[in-house]
Amino acid sequence: MTDPDPLVIFTPSGKRGRFPVGTPVLTAARQLGVDLDSVCGGRGICSKCQVTPAYGDFPKHGVHVTDTALSPWNSVEARYDSTRGLPEGRRLSCQAQVQGDVVIDVPAESQVHRQVIRKRAETRALTMNPATRLHFVEVAEPDMHDPSGDFERLSAALEAQWGVTGLTADLSMLSALQGVLRKGNWRVTAAVYRDHTGAAPRLLHLFPGLHEDGLYGLAIDLGSTTIAAHLTDLETGEVRAASGLMNPQIRFGEDLMSRVSYVMMNPGGDTEMTNAVRGALSDLAAELARDAGIDPALIVEATLVCNPVMHHLALGIDPTELGQAPFALTTSSALSLPAAELGFAAINPRARLYILPCIAGHVGADAAAVALSEAPEKSEDLVLIIDVGTNAEILLGNTSRVLACSSPTGPAFEGAQISSGQRAAPGAIEKVEIDPVTKEPRFRVIGMKRWSDDPGFAPRVAATGVTGICGSGIIEALAEMRMAGIMDASGLIGSAEQTGSARCIPDGRTHAYVLHDGRAEGGPLITVTQGDVRAIQLAKSALYAGARLLMDEMGVERVDRVVLAGAFGAHISAKHAMVLGMIPDVPLARVTSAGNAAGTGARIALCDIAARAAIEGNVARITKIETAIAPAFQAHFVAANALPHASDPFPELAKVVQLPDVSFNTGGSGADGGGRRRRRRG
Ligand code: FES
Repeated sequence: MTDPDPLVIFTPSGKRGRFPVGTPVLTAARQLGVDLDSVCGGRGICSKCQVTPAYGDFPKHGVHVTDTALSPWNSVEARYDSTRGLPEGRRLSCQAQVQGDVVIDVPAESQVHRQVIRKRAETRALTMNPATRLHFVEVAEPDMHDPSGDFERLSAALEAQWGVTGLTADLSMLSALQGVLRKGNWRVTAAVYRDHTGAAPRLLHLFPGLHEDGLYGLAIDLGSTTIAAHLTDLETGEVRAASGLMNPQIRFGEDLMSRVSYVMMNPGGDTEMTNAVRGALSDLAAELARDAGIDPALIVEATLVCNPVMHHLALGIDPTELGQAPFALTTSSALSLPAAELGFAAINPRARLYILPCIAGHVGADAAAVALSEAPEKSEDLVLIIDVGTNAEILLGNTSRVLACSSPTGPAFEGAQISSGQRAAPGAIEKVEIDPVTKEPRFRVIGMKRWSDDPGFAPRVAATGVTGICGSGIIEALAEMRMAGIMDASGLIGSAEQTGSARCIPDGRTHAYVLHDGRAEGGPLITVTQGDVRAIQLAKSALYAGARLLMDEMGVERVDRVVLAGAFGAHISAKHAMVLGMIPDVPLARVTSAGNAAGTGARIALCDIAARAAIEGNVARITKIETAIAPAFQAHFVAANALPHASDPFPELAKVVQLPDVSFNTGGSGADGGGRRRRRRG
């Protein structure tokens, strides 16, 4: 009886099979369907196919692996090791041949569908499964006796060597083709785009020889106030550069409806805004490529998430219909377009742009991206996800049902409309504490760990100065003022006499609380004014009312947990948000932060075409709630004006914070003295 062929076992997949002596490990992996990368197709030049053989006894697998289980190092591996270096214990699987039973580990970086670790435990891992991949091919040279076009021979090579069938290319690609094929001496690397729709594969770019400098994509979160983008490596998922800038459309109106009105009242206004945002997107792409030190032509894809008005304006579609019921979108479907159609000038001219689907006329692709990132449809407990921005996206759901709405909070949470407000930058106050007895504040500024009353604060802060209050700082300041009895439940700031603090100074017919007086050093007087409180109250009422509307629809009075998302949401303290009644009452430990969930959703869609298919399916199953026409919204809005709320109980908050029962209402129009001080609880 002849000996059976050697057994080859791959870990971590556990896939196994018997292969004749002399079979390359890469071939065995291919035949077993093991996830093992290769760009050069086994020619020993890309090094993507690295594996780690294991030797010794493996009782679990029932094999003993001897030192001779694989063929010895060959000249290709030796050359690669001397020029680039192979990590200890690694082999190139296209070169190493099976000689005996062997256990082969495929390291994460050699897997095609590698998982990218996401920071938070409660979110699912991101799988690399991008639309655009690199394939090295050797193309047959032209032959007068067997005439065919260069593109046809390239297509045939890609089909034979990589299974790419029905390749297409646009004119700009065709016009570059002959030069690249000849420059590469008929050895080229093709960047082929194949998305989740089953559309014919597209040749996006052709590199002479083996291209080893990777491919990149942009994940863009186009917000009303800010535009954030992540330049992402399409092979590893690594973010190579991130940047943001203010949306230049702000000059046409701070919030969405004022921009729609601008279009209605100014013929050509939509074109002006389209040009402004497209210019900013293009600039941002060029800046990111510069920051990462990469050739912008290597950026071959982008994904875009945004609210419906931004969506239409970026696409060059008049958003007027979105300003009035029934809030009809031109299209709510996901879109796949040439990025050049949106004016991306600096990146690859054939780069593709994927725009996530919109959920409804007021609930955009940004909400879809949050749903993709946070996956409420997979949550066993009822989760409320709030993406805080100029327009808040709110999702409520669990495995049985997901609801979504958006709520017009305005830009107050981003530091706009706040008298001492500023964007989050060094020198901005981000954390505040107020002593409930002395009513004296202490604070921290961005870029420094010390509190303002710590020794050494003044000399250290001198470099930036204390310049203003950022969004999270104003939330903390207000909540601390409420907890210290400087502000009452209706949001009125008391006078010096009412509060016992000289920091409460007259400000017209109302009062303001002095957080920091830097005038002696030439700095600003930083106060929290009654107008600031009103702006935050309007914003937080809109947020809370939106959440309540979804809870009504779901038929619940409580949620199990809250996720705060958005660049600003990431920095809000749960306790302070709840003192102000921005979010419904839940145990504080059940409030978590998701960072920029819309941006994360854009990155997931960039890196994984299966996620694009999934969100397109999920969006169809999300129930949309329209806040603008819901009769209950107004009632919820009014009740939510109080801090934390006029009627909803906050029992979990009461376990950790006792709010003083003070009122500064004199019956007049302002808090201008004469209020009474009521009993303090706790
Ligand atoms: S497959 Fe490219 S080096 Fe092995």
